[in-house]
Amino acid sequence: MKKNTARPAATRNDFISSFSYDKRLALSDIKCSIAHVEMLGRKKIIPRGESAGIVKTLKALAAEITAGLKRISPSEDIHYAIEKEVIARLGENIGGKLRTARSRNDQVATDIRLYLKSDIPELKESIRKLRRSIIKKSLADFDAVMPGYTHLQEAQPVLFSHYLSTYNEMLKRDEARFSDCLDRLNESPLGAAAFAGTSFDIDRNFTARLLGFARPMPHSVDAVSSRDFACEFISACAITMVHLSRLAEDLIIFSSSEFGFVSMPQGYSSGSSIMPQKKNPDWLELIRAKAAGVIGSLTAMLSLLKGIPLSYNRDMQEDKIHIFRASDETRASLEVMASIISGLEINRDRMSEAMRRDDYFLATELADYLVGKGIPFKTAHSIVSRVVSEASSRGVKLSELGFEQYRKMSKAFGRDIYTKCLDINRVISSKNSYGGTSPSQVKKYLSREFKMLSGK
Ligand code: ARG
Repeated sequence: MKKNTARPAATRNDFISSFSYDKRLALSDIKCSIAHVEMLGRKKIIPRGESAGIVKTLKALAAEITAGLKRISPSEDIHYAIEKEVIARLGENIGGKLRTARSRNDQVATDIRLYLKSDIPELKESIRKLRRSIIKKSLADFDAVMPGYTHLQEAQPVLFSHYLSTYNEMLKRDEARFSDCLDRLNESPLGAAAFAGTSFDIDRNFTARLLGFARPMPHSVDAVSSRDFACEFISACAITMVHLSRLAEDLIIFSSSEFGFVSMPQGYSSGSSIMPQKKNPDWLELIRAKAAGVIGSLTAMLSLLKGIPLSYNRDMQEDKIHIFRASDETRASLEVMASIISGLEINRDRMSEAMRRDDYFLATELADYLVGKGIPFKTAHSIVSRVVSEASSRGVKLSELGFEQYRKMSKAFGRDIYTKCLDINRVISSKNSYGGTSPSQVKKYLSREFKMLSGK
């Protein structure tokens, strides 16, 4: 059989190495080492001069990496790679002291937390950007009316701005979930060493403070064994992606030629290689696909943890694959969605057309009307069901059904049903309960959110 040359060959070393993906922890790893070595010098665990030398080297290395002047050469993982670099510059007699009173176990747990401490605020900012674009679009097309759906069946009329801004609420909670996650992971594992702590007289409060953590973690076994913070983080990403995927699905449906309620902005749809008339919503479809990937990462992360005994196990090395993937895909999807929403075109005519086709979605209004005349809702519901069947068998809309027909079904119907129940704008305005779709409720809601999001 011929060998598949397209598949990269995996060596024994490739198999165990995490360098290809944990190299992005380089700056967090250096920061962690600087705090650790400063503490070692302060506590005279290693000579002060030597600790100062190591810190200086680490700082120079960080500056070179940031400036793009230095590429760390691959090693088993980023921790060994940085240590190798320090030893190359200072010799093993000094550089070799970097790992005093520390293990890669507490080091890697600290590095990931440090990474997420700067990553989460960026994700939150991307969420806010999308929320801002949703609120701005809702304000710009504030009074467009569309049919709202349950079970994807026309249900009741709503303001388009009310429908779209639903996602602002979902995203607001997503943002809060990231904040909660950040609060809980803001503790330092550094100093737990392999898992049992250390016989050196270290100062964990000092390193925690230097690294900007609220406190050191109070239990050394927990510090190296736990990854529930990663589960929480990926879970926050997965829930956000589920929301983005639903929004993508709504827009895919609404931009189809059958609906035509919205049109994709320039640059966010692509043609078909065979059918010249097509405008495919590929970007939205990929957001939907990426949601599947992030859910996969959450499943992988939970599965990775469920069977491992205390304390550290090498399985945990692969947590980073899922943390980074979830973070990257969520971030990219938020950014793409924000651009799509900002450039989205709203086609009011198509919305009105859909509502003109038939007006059976106003049936609830007729039932509510009868309730206003003292009829129990259950009875009103069956009266109106008969009205709808009558209209449908005659092939007319509710507004075209003659008043005598209404009176046949119930004497409680008055001539005012045509204006009170069957006029869409009046129906919309009547939904004035707190949080409802009336223009005055929606306006209040949108202005409040706009103010909050623009920091006013
Ligand atoms: N690359 C490893 C990881 O990401 C570092 C920790 C290795 N520790 C060990 N005891 N082998 O988890």
